[in-house]
Formats: sequence, structure tokens, C-alpha cells
Amino acid sequence: MALMERESAPIYDLNQNVFLIGFMGAGKSSVARKIARECHVASLDLDTFIERRCGMPISEIFEKHGEEKFREIETLTLQTFADSDEHIIISCGGGIVCRERNIEILKNTKNYTVHLKTDADTAARRISDISTRPLFNDLESARARCLSRMPAYEEAADVTIDTKGLGVYAVSQQVIYQLKGEGILCQRRG
Ligand code: S3P
Repeated sequence: MALMERESAPIYDLNQNVFLIGFMGAGKSSVARKIARECHVASLDLDTFIERRCGMPISEIFEKHGEEKFREIETLTLQTFADSDEHIIISCGGGIVCRERNIEILKNTKNYTVHLKTDADTAARRISDISTRPLFNDLESARARCLSRMPAYEEAADVTIDTKGLGVYAVSQQVIYQLKGEGILCQRRG
């Protein structure tokens, strides 16, 4: 019975790559994973991909090679997935909008970019271990960083979803609704 139920669950296809952006703690990775599980599409976390390829956590890349090197790797990785016709859902690191080139990539009409909006105070409550986030040192500087990045998130995004007061499930449902409405997430027929 359980298998039959699973077999009858609708399967979806993406007809574009979908990028989730937003400040640290916006829930990008969890929301991407939730959508992937629910709609049977593939998802990827850009930071996890970078960590695996570099063989060290992001915090160590920052420590040993500096932020600029990390940003170079981030741009190369973003470009690789943006060029791919695999059409998956990709969660990006919060600083993806720090480079103008990345904003251009995200704005490319081949891609669809969703900004999951949060503020630093909400983010601080969501992040369980800030030692994994080299740029989330203290609340005061996180507030300033979050505010200063907001115009760039807005510029890069096709749509913004305010995550304040919402959990992963509620946000994922809003993203799914938006993607279906845009004709990007389509139920597979037959
Ligand atoms: C960063 C956010 C992190 C990670 C790195 C830099 C940033 O990703 O890419 O620590 O500059 O905001 P999350 O947004 O997944 O925490």
C-alpha cells in the first residue's frame, strides 16, 4: 500500500534551473531539500558542493585561503550549474550577491531566482552554530551586512518571498506555488 501511494505521488520537472538566494539563516538549503523531496526534483547546495570539492569546510577555506579565494570558487561553481541543462534547484550561500558577475548570472533569463528574505535577528535565532558562518560574527555587524545586501538580493531575484514568521514547510509551499504559477515546475504526464 505504501509503495502504491508513493507511486501515485505526482512527479514534477523543472524547465529551468532555480536558484534560492538570501541572507544566512533564510532557510535556503532546507527549503531546497524540502521541495526536492516533495516534487521529486534534484537539489544541490552550492556551499556543500564547494566543501566537498575543496575537501574542507567553508570556515576553513576562509581561514586558510581568505574570502576572495572563496568568492572565486563560488563564482566558478555558480557558473557551472547555471550553464547546466540539468534543471535542478540550487541553494546558494548568502554572499552570492557580493559579486556583480554572480548577479548577472542569476538574472540571466535561463535561470529563475527566488529571494528568501529574512532579517539578521530572525536569522540568528535559526542558525544553530554560528561558528560555521565566518561572516556572522555578531548580531550588530550581521544586521548591517544583511541591510547592505538587501538591494543586491532584490536586483538578482525574479521574486521575493518574506520568510519572517514562516517555517520551512510554509516557505517551501510558497516557492512551489510560485514556480508552478510561472510554469517552471510542471507535473510530469503519463
Ligand atoms: C556567506 C554565507 C554562507 C557561506 C559563507 C559566506 C555569506 O552560506 O557561503 O559562509 O557571505 O553570507 P549560508 O548563507 O548558507 O550560511
